[in-house]
Amino acid sequence: MTALLEIEGLTKHFGGVLANDNVSFGVAEGEILGLLGPNGAGKTTLFNCITGFLPPDRGRVRFAGVDVTGRSASRLARDGLVRTFQIVRVFPDLSALENVVIGALLRHGRVSAARRRALEVLEDVGLAARSNVRARDLTTAERKRLEVARALATDPRALLLDEAMSGLNPREVAEAVALVRRLREGGVTIVLVEHVLEVVMPLADRVVVLQEGRAIADATPAAVSRDPAVIEAYLGPQFIERA
Ligand SMILES: Nc1ncnc2c1ncn2[C@@H]1O[C@H](COP(=O)(O)OP(=O)(O)O)[C@@H](O)[C@H]1O
Ligand SMILES: [Mg+2]
Repeated sequence: MTALLEIEGLTKHFGGVLANDNVSFGVAEGEILGLLGPNGAGKTTLFNCITGFLPPDRGRVRFAGVDVTGRSASRLARDGLVRTFQIVRVFPDLSALENVVIGALLRHGRVSAARRRALEVLEDVGLAARSNVRARDLTTAERKRLEVARALATDPRALLLDEAMSGLNPREVAEAVALVRRLREGGVTIVLVEHVLEVVMPLADRVVVLQEGRAIADATPAAVSRDPAVIEAYLGPQFIERA
């Protein structure tokens, strides 16, 4: 089967730092892929290179069988490949609804249609009651959901989530997990950068582990959590004891 998203030999450096070192993996349509790795492993840089926010030094990105390397973020969003940001990038002075309408306008030329789609998405992420609140007045958790809503309003085929659950309390994490599952049931392919292992392991179909820019594992959550290289590099001995 051809992957919906294929990363091949992706390499990116910043001065002397090799943030992504020849990273290759594929994501099948409808899959939830967990991308794990310690701070500084290169996860956000990889998202930036995949989604048109940074040009890779080397390597290719293919989406739906087409080489999209070097395409702009807005072009990729029209193609159906979107991401959220670890540091939320909503417009603070616009309402939740207005923020999501901006995403929806990508697919819906008329503001009235974009508004309808935005309201649906706000409902989906549980923010309907907050649609008229300015983004700056939302809680951190609500702003994270708003960021996801704005991405969803573009009707993506693949959604890349950069730590969309970090900083959330357990109830909010559970809601976010349920949302990711619903999205996948709706046919969206998901790549999830997350630090909370207890979240990623049960949710992901497959896990890729980055360490110092390199992909050191690509397997099922169960296999990855038994992989000695991963345990040593990332999970740490306490994980073995708990597992
Ligand atoms: N814009 C940048 N300029 C310089 N160095 C960067 C930049 N972005 C990331 N880096 C460096 O690249 C490495 C990977 O960072 P990042 O992709 O943010 O990792 P992660 O998301 O896994 O925590 C780190 O050493 C980081 O300091
Ligand atoms: Mg990051």
